[in-house]
Amino acid sequence: MGAEVSYTNIDQKVVVVTGAAQGIGAAYAQRLHKEGATVAAVDLSQAVLESENCASGHVVDVSDPDSCRALAAELQERYGRVDGLLNNAAIFSTIQMKPFWEIEPAEWDRLMAVNLKGPWLLASALLPLLRKSSAASIINIGSDAALMGRPGYLHYVASKGGVAAMTFSMSHELGEFGIRVNTLSPGPVYTEVARETVSPEQKQAMLATQALHRTAGPDDMTSLAVFLLSDDSGYLTGQTISVNGGLVHR
Ligand SMILES: NC(=O)c1ccc[n+]([C@@H]2O[C@H](COP(=O)([O-])OP(=O)(O)OC[C@H]3O[C@@H](n4cnc5c(N)ncnc54)[C@H](O)[C@@H]3O)[C@@H](O)[C@H]2O)c1
Repeated sequence: MGAEVSYTNIDQKVVVVTGAAQGIGAAYAQRLHKEGATVAAVDLSQAVLESENCASGHVVDVSDPDSCRALAAELQERYGRVDGLLNNAAIFSTIQMKPFWEIEPAEWDRLMAVNLKGPWLLASALLPLLRKSSAASIINIGSDAALMGRPGYLHYVASKGGVAAMTFSMSHELGEFGIRVNTLSPGPVYTEVARETVSPEQKQAMLATQALHRTAGPDDMTSLAVFLLSDDSGYLTGQTISVNGGLVHR
């Protein structure tokens, strides 16, 4: 047994995790809570209010500026500052795969509003609170799907490509406040939630290109998130880091 790893000052942090009601978001919240962080769990789903892995649960639509501002006011009242923002909420497991020319404009707009506009809206609304932290860190969740040319969900792929580009520029705009911003880019991760975006054949094909010949679960993503939100990553910003078992993008 090795010694337990501890992450510097993670237990001093107030961290907002969006999309925390299920899937990987719930795992981020659970792990951060276990590490001693004060977790504000956010989701559109009321289920977030029942989470045991947080200090507070908040029903928020990240695509709605008023909802983001209301969250900021609540967090100001409750905690007085925010040290970490993990922008994980996205339209993902509910996506129905189709050729891009069959995606309805309204469907495209809604996905972009959540996946790309949401992280920007929430970072903007929480900025005054993040600036009160002595060492704030933002993680935007990307996806390796943006690097793989995967067919069938062009709006999603475009949104996650946008997230990585946005993150790089955000890091430059927020550097002067000492706020770091990075993209955590998962490869395929299999959660308790069924989804259409990977067929059994695609699952095997992707696995075959990986260096590690096993699939990933939510817990495989959480250590990097804790590291990026802790003070151990104090000089790390503007990066896109893939957690994908060595998946080859082809
Ligand atoms: N699972 C994967 O294979 C994989 C791979 C790469 C990237 N990702 C990314 O990781 C993140 C989590 O993935 P997951 O598999 O847990 O997805 P999921 O679809 O199971 O969960 C997404 C969560 O976001 C919430 N949400 C949706 N719209 C919202 C809104 N407007 N406001 C607030 N909350 C909202 C949902 O209620 C849900 O709880 C997403 O950003 C996803 O794009 C996942």
